[in-house]
Amino acid sequence: MKSLFNQNILCIGAGYVGGPTMAMIAHKCPQYRVTIVDINPERIAQWKSDRLPIFEPGLDEIVRAVHGRNLFFSTDIEKGIREADIIFVSVNTPTKTFGVGAGMAADLQYWEKTARQILESATTDKIVVEKSTLPVRTAQAMERILFSTHSGVRFEVLSNPEFLAEGTAIQDLENPDRVLIGSRQTESGLKAGSALAEIYANWVPRDRILTTDIWSSELSKLVANAFLAQRISSINAISVLCEKTEADVTQVARAVGMDNRIGPKFLNASVGFGGSCFKKDILNLVYICQYYGLNDVAKYWNSVIKINEYQKAHFVETMLNAMFNTLSGKRICLFGFAFKADTGDTRDSPAIQIAKRLIEERAELVITDPQALANARTDLKGVDGNVQFIEDPYEAAAGSHAIAIMTEWRQFRELDYERIYRSMTQPAFIFDGRNVVDHRKLHQMGFNVYPIGKPALTNL
Ligand SMILES: NC(=O)c1ccc[n+]([C@@H]2O[C@H](COP(=O)([O-])OP(=O)(O)OC[C@H]3O[C@@H](n4cnc5c(N)ncnc54)[C@H](O)[C@@H]3O)[C@@H](O)[C@H]2O)c1
Repeated sequence: MKSLFNQNILCIGAGYVGGPTMAMIAHKCPQYRVTIVDINPERIAQWKSDRLPIFEPGLDEIVRAVHGRNLFFSTDIEKGIREADIIFVSVNTPTKTFGVGAGMAADLQYWEKTARQILESATTDKIVVEKSTLPVRTAQAMERILFSTHSGVRFEVLSNPEFLAEGTAIQDLENPDRVLIGSRQTESGLKAGSALAEIYANWVPRDRILTTDIWSSELSKLVANAFLAQRISSINAISVLCEKTEADVTQVARAVGMDNRIGPKFLNASVGFGGSCFKKDILNLVYICQYYGLNDVAKYWNSVIKINEYQKAHFVETMLNAMFNTLSGKRICLFGFAFKADTGDTRDSPAIQIAKRLIEERAELVITDPQALANARTDLKGVDGNVQFIEDPYEAAAGSHAIAIMTEWRQFRELDYERIYRSMTQPAFIFDGRNVVDHRKLHQMGFNVYPIGKPALTNL
């Protein structure tokens, strides 16, 4: 029977990128059949259920509209590969923890496994699209694997890095600043690039679809993340100077950001950046620089990570100094555990390191977060200390000596802090790691308030 669909699209990897990206393609392109596969059967079962494996505003609605229409989830990777015209590879590429490049280079074991599986199962020509963030020149390695036998099946490898941000993934996918497609500059490479551009052109204006060579495309993704993280580390470095000199980092950021050569975004001082990408992608960039002997360039980019580590350590130091140099036996409530608002993702969240440091100081922790408590439990599993996970922020804060805001959830701005203050152990402290609450108002209520990059407001 002839298929109702023009094209079969497969995505290998049903994660934070694969899931939302494919849901958007299925939503915008009813003429394509989109299948997402994963080696993790539990994840696939969750995608098929009422409770999706990831929280992302707007995602539920889109998945519900297209699931079973032209979006399908499966664990049958072989069948998926056989039937696909275009295969997106969106598997995880974490930092390597062993052997050469440990702690810096990308761990490509999942990605290589996928490449070999494509080679084994494909019986017709395929376009293979790298969606995962990969170190420069990975496409070449992918080609080497795919071209390693003479099966007669032809593969064209494209780079199409994803720029979505968790928490705004649906918005970012619906209205991307740009879509980047890297291809070989050969006739067949350019043709494959055009086929991929056709998919996006169903909803993305043509002038936002950029085409480049493969290596430039791969490198652009690493550089974009490095630049974004660099802005955070730059303003965080200045925040510490503001604390010492009684300047206000929010005002500095506003004045600086109004220069249209600089721009206002990503200039919020905080407890530090997190997420699964920034650190790993910068490490990757640093590793590549070192590989080519560019040690000063490597050091330059590595300092973005160093400032981030410094910022987290500095936050705990501020808490210690403020709370009379001891946290032992004190109850501290972390408001938020996700690495940013509007996601349940806690990968590399600053809250993990801060929680561990506070436990080392023998504090008793209470953690509250609207979406990330399950992940927080996993992150702190096996840590030897007194930790509770409580969904209701009022209950979590009751009896605490201090609140530390880790995530900029809107909910935390809107709480009744008078009520919270009355329920806490006195003197009550609040350390605002995201500068999201009204510091003056809280100070007037009686709190000792420690923002980031501004003078503390104390009642002691
Ligand atoms: N999370 C983000 O915000 C973001 C944004 C842009 C790009 N990226 C990049 O996208 C890639 C994926 O990131 P993610 O956050 O979606 O990761 P993720 O861990 O959420 O998802 C990856 C999925 O791939 C599956 N997988 C691994 N090996 C497999 C195999 N051989 N066959 C089938 N499935 C396999 C895993 O089970 C997992 O479900 C990474 O390279 C990341 O750097 C992530």
